[in-house]
This record gives sequence, structure tokens and C-alpha cells, in this order.
Amino acid sequence: MEISAKTPVYCVIGHPVGHSLSPLMQNRAFAAAGCDGVYAAFDTANPEGAAAGIRALGIRGASVTIPHKVPIMDFLDEIDDNARAIGAVNTIVNSGGKLRGCNTDGRGAVRALEEHIAVSGKKVLILGAGGAARAIVHGLKASGADPYIANRTPDKARLLAQDLGAQAVSMDAISGRSFDIMINTTPVGMHPDTDAMPAPESVLAPEMHVMDIIYNPLGTKLLAKAEAAGCHVIDGAGMFVYQGALQFSLWTGRDAPVAQMRQVVYKYLNLN
Ligand code: ATR
Repeated sequence: MEISAKTPVYCVIGHPVGHSLSPLMQNRAFAAAGCDGVYAAFDTANPEGAAAGIRALGIRGASVTIPHKVPIMDFLDEIDDNARAIGAVNTIVNSGGKLRGCNTDGRGAVRALEEHIAVSGKKVLILGAGGAARAIVHGLKASGADPYIANRTPDKARLLAQDLGAQAVSMDAISGRSFDIMINTTPVGMHPDTDAMPAPESVLAPEMHVMDIIYNPLGTKLLAKAEAAGCHVIDGAGMFVYQGALQFSLWTGRDAPVAQMRQVVYKYLNLN
């Protein structure tokens, strides 16, 4: 694919972004879909300036990552219902200078799960009550699932559950209950503390679907223990790929080449 004067430009804004896999994945997506486009990473601590830059330069779309997902909302022209309910934006769509904020994190997580199990009517235990949990619980509710939230700080689980119409459950009580699906949204088990587990092993039951959103490493201790216990496991590449695939579709109006996006992400993560 040749870059010309007409090539639409897309980007990720964040601070830091040096380790983002989005440029690798989205540039592969443009190439695989035969779609003119180039995607770059901008490390910026200034979300207001970044929004003005996107407008001024006609950048067609952007991914938004830490720490700008909430502050960027003040500088956009429109926030869609999904992003407003989640309270954060991970995607900007530029339509003729008008910037719309969207959020693909929750739906991305649901798509990753639905490759393995239909979520409607399922009891889903969410570990953690931060920003990622909020997006995922919202996505699950919108898909008809029944989410339960357990968190180190129980008050945060209660608040999130109340806000989104889910249920809170104490960490001490989760082993005595049965869930169809469990999702880790905490950083527990992430490099370099890879020996840590976000929940006791006793919560794992055969046939449960266990998803970790950590992808550094892909094979977390939680997933290894889950596999050994006879669970179905879904690693953190799933949500990452699908949140990006949904971004690609918002920007281009086309289906994303998910298989190729996944392939480049796995290749990178397995080599690093
Ligand atoms: P993100 O936006 O990525 O979800 P966050 O908003 O900082 O990140 O949320 C991180 C979540 O992981 C929180 O629910 C946090 O628990 P607290 O509410 O008690 O802070 C949870 N978390 C982080 N480190 C943890 C640890 N060592 N053990 C258990 N939970 C942890």
C-alpha cells in the first residue's frame, strides 16, 4: 500500500503510547482490507491540544488511551450514548471537522466472549471495579447478561453495580457461588508480578468461561489455573482485537479483517 497525499490519517493519542500495539494492528487492518489509510501514534499529555490538532489536520479518526479517555470528552463536539453511559471515550470519529466520541471497549469484550459463548442470560463475575470493568459491565448488560462485580474495595463494586443495574458480590463470597463466565479486569497477574492471582482458585469450576483482559503476558496465572481446572479460557488479545476491529468499522464503514488483526497481535505478543 502506497501512502499518497490523499491517504486518510488515523492515530492513537495517549501518554505514554510507545508500547501501544494499535499502530501495528490498525495498519495491518488497512492493508488487509485493501483500504487506503495510515495509523500513527502520538504521545501527548495535552488532550485539548490533541483534539484541536485532529480537527486542524483533518485526522479522520483516533483511538484514545490512558490517561485521556475521560478528559478528552470535554473537547469533543458530540459523545454517543454508549460512551456517555460508560463515562469514557476510546474512539474519536472526525466527520468534516465534527468530533464524535465513542467507546468500543465493552462491545469489544462481549465480541471476544461471544466467539466462545453467547452471553445473554449468563451469570458473569467481573473482578475489579475500575474503568475497564465499567465498560465491560455496560457491554454485558446491553447484551442481556447478568453481571456480578467483586472488588478489593467493596464500596466501589457497590457503586458501579448500582449505577449500571448490576449486582455487587463480596470477594469472600465468590467461591461459594456459581458463575458461567468470569472476567478479570484488574492488573493482578500482569508483568512483572506474574505469579499473582486476582481471585482464589476455588472459584474455578469445570466448563466455566474465564477471560483475562491482561495481554502482558497472554498466558496469565489465572488462565493457566483455569485451564487446568477444566475451564474454557479466553486471553487478553480477544478484547484488544475486537475493540480495535469496532474502531476500524466506525472509521471506514467496513467490516474489519479480524483474523489478520489477531494474527499480527499474536505474532508480536508471542515473540515478546
Ligand atoms: P482500569 O481503568 O484499567 O480498569 P483502574 O480504574 O485503576 O484501572 O481499576 C483497577 C481495578 O483493579 C480496581 O478495581 C482496583 O481495585 P480497587 O478499587 O480496590 O483499587 C483493582 N486492583 C488494582 N490492583 C489490585 C490488587 N493488587 N489487588 C486487587 N485489586 C486490584
